[in-house]
Amino acid sequence: MANSISQNNAVITGVGGWVPEKVLTNEDLAKTVDTNDEWIRTRTGISERHIAAPDEASSDMAAKAALAALEDAGSKPEEIDLLVVATITPDSAMPSTACHVQAKTGLVNATCFDISAACTGFVYALDIAHKYIITGASKKAMVIGVDKMSAVVDWQDRGTCVLFGDGAGAIILEAGSGESRGIIATTTKSDGRLSSILRIEAGGSAMPLTAENIGERRQYIKMEGNIVFKHAVRSMYEISEETLEKAGLTHSDIAWVVPHQANMRIITAIAEKLETPMERVVTNLERYGNTTAATIPLALNEAVKDGRIKEGDYVLLVAFGAGLTWGASVIQWGG
Ligand SMILES: CC(C)(COP(=O)(O)OP(=O)(O)OC[C@H]1O[C@@H](n2cnc3c(N)ncnc32)[C@H](O)[C@@H]1OP(=O)(O)O)[C@@H](O)C(=O)NCCC(=O)NCCS
Repeated sequence: MANSISQNNAVITGVGGWVPEKVLTNEDLAKTVDTNDEWIRTRTGISERHIAAPDEASSDMAAKAALAALEDAGSKPEEIDLLVVATITPDSAMPSTACHVQAKTGLVNATCFDISAACTGFVYALDIAHKYIITGASKKAMVIGVDKMSAVVDWQDRGTCVLFGDGAGAIILEAGSGESRGIIATTTKSDGRLSSILRIEAGGSAMPLTAENIGERRQYIKMEGNIVFKHAVRSMYEISEETLEKAGLTHSDIAWVVPHQANMRIITAIAEKLETPMERVVTNLERYGNTTAATIPLALNEAVKDGRIKEGDYVLLVAFGAGLTWGASVIQWGG
């Protein structure tokens, strides 16, 4: 599915992020599983990650990011008419995490729902909100990517527990009035035939939780890391090229690439294929690990707030995750 330049444009007017207070370092992890700081840093690029408190749900982190984005945009909560939350770690199966965020932030006029596209969730949710805006169905939308991965990783599995962290990022999207082209082109893709390489088996309708499957640790993430790695590099590169072409741009036009933060080796491989120096790639996975749907808005938030991303810059967002799902969006920054 794809969309290209429209007569109407939608621009990002506010960004916000939140990570929990508690920091879990590689050294901390080495005390509980058979791993070490050197392996984790050289194989993944991650040094530490933030872990939510037991009573801190996805909606709590999302609400904090939402309030920060509202403040950044100078918007009131009641002006938001659409809230799309991307997450694979909802507070519970129902109601949606978006409804919990609504109650915690006073978005009283918003239609609220969640979408599930794992690490590509933010790009999918942005695409949905973009379409609401350009069709006139929404005037001011909020998009949040949030995940509490600490609730679904197997802390006894060194192959996965070292990779993930918790966090939330939010943006405000509205019809553009200035010079910026806003969201220029987005491409999203899926391949459900490869669902087994990254999955959580138990806890849904196919395998409701039982004492037996909990004992077998089937409620946690299972991943075939090597296969995921190869698909991630190829898919993120190809969809970046396709989306740049749709936007009528080339690599050299892009001021900043904001990729999904899963593994530094994946990011450097994509940057190389895109002929983009790492100085123009926003990374923060060293401090946060893979926060799934939150990685892109968290990285975007940092790069906007510290002045790296400036008015008029062309920015490429690109993500890959379970499903499989992958997606890219080309944006011209500014309101
Ligand atoms: C998970 C990942 C870091 C593993 O890196 P890798 O280089 O492929 O490593 P391998 O899985 O081949 O394992 C190499 C060795 O390290 C070991 N190892 C795995 N995790 C380890 C850890 N945390 N600490 C120490 N050793 C570890 C393995 O057991 C293996 O040992 P062996 O050679 O004795 O069998 C990598 O495959 C990856 O990042 N994949 C993509 C993950 C991802 O992006 N997921 C989210 C998608 S959005």
